[in-house]
Amino acid sequence: MSGKSAKDFFRPLAVGAPQPLREIPARPSRAIHFFDPSNAKMAAKVPAMVGTVDVLLGNLEDAVKAENKEAARQGLVDIAKGTDFGPTQLWTRINALDSPWVLDDLTTLVTEIGDRLDVIMVPKVQGAEDIHYVDRLLAQLEAKAGLERPLLVHAILETARGVANVEEICGASPRMQGLSLGPADLAADRRMKTTRVGGGHPGYLVREDPPRVDGVANLEARRSTYQQDLWHYTIARMVDACAMHGIYPYYGPFGDIADVVACEDQFRNAFLLGCVGTWSLHPQQIAIAHRVFSPSAEDVAHARRVVAAMGDGTGAVMLDGKMEDDASLKQCLVMVELAEQLAA
Ligand code: GLV
Ligand code: MG
Repeated sequence: MSGKSAKDFFRPLAVGAPQPLREIPARPSRAIHFFDPSNAKMAAKVPAMVGTVDVLLGNLEDAVKAENKEAARQGLVDIAKGTDFGPTQLWTRINALDSPWVLDDLTTLVTEIGDRLDVIMVPKVQGAEDIHYVDRLLAQLEAKAGLERPLLVHAILETARGVANVEEICGASPRMQGLSLGPADLAADRRMKTTRVGGGHPGYLVREDPPRVDGVANLEARRSTYQQDLWHYTIARMVDACAMHGIYPYYGPFGDIADVVACEDQFRNAFLLGCVGTWSLHPQQIAIAHRVFSPSAEDVAHARRVVAAMGDGTGAVMLDGKMEDDASLKQCLVMVELAEQLAA
């Protein structure tokens, strides 16, 4: 081997792309577990969750009632000051940039707990201008608070305009850490005819062609249907834009908490397409996310065999009847690198 890692192949910055302010931390963030800091019962459970999940996120936006916005902000400050988060990252989701709360969210959080927060998730991002605004404001607040470590920014892709501008959003600031899909707001903004938070829809399907007898279609015959993934297009666009800018793509919320099977399927599709993690809205989704967004022992063992068999990384070898070459080696290095990151 040439000593290269998957990173050398997978995340080169495009020519002309902004240079990172600092290396985006390659810390595992398979599950971003949301909690409402204004909900005393939920907030009391946070310290005990440290170490059980990659990321804990204090949510200030949707799902927090308007009358509780101040309490949520203050609750997050109290939790952050009173808890040692150890290996678990602390993120927040601020209110939307056109809301009456966001200025106080940013001012209070950066001033009071800017040294404890890792990532600020910004909802309903429409274009680079939104990220520029947050970036400038953070720079001013960080300078005032004397923070030495810049806060990172994560955008939610949940408007049609945001999807159209996804590449410029990813490259809008060296602070950009990643992007999540926001299927509920995005569905509404696109005027999709769904009422769920993420996941599929039984009506979005393709039907098998009819059998033909002597060239004549039998439209009466029973035919299978296959449900399609409503989110494939957006996730694929998001993954490409993130890879181009060297930042991380995530699935988002899966609202049907009881349907753990469909949740796992949706998460796995996102993992296979390139996402590094997802949101968790209920503790039982944490285990699903950690499992799905970690490569299986079998895949890692196979990847290591290919790496070993490929020697200096060039040429082609046959392994178990399959051709492996420079390109399959790169895929295997992605898997090995992720396994090593998670084991570290
Ligand atoms: C998340 O914020 C969503 O709108 O799905
Ligand atoms: Mg939303």
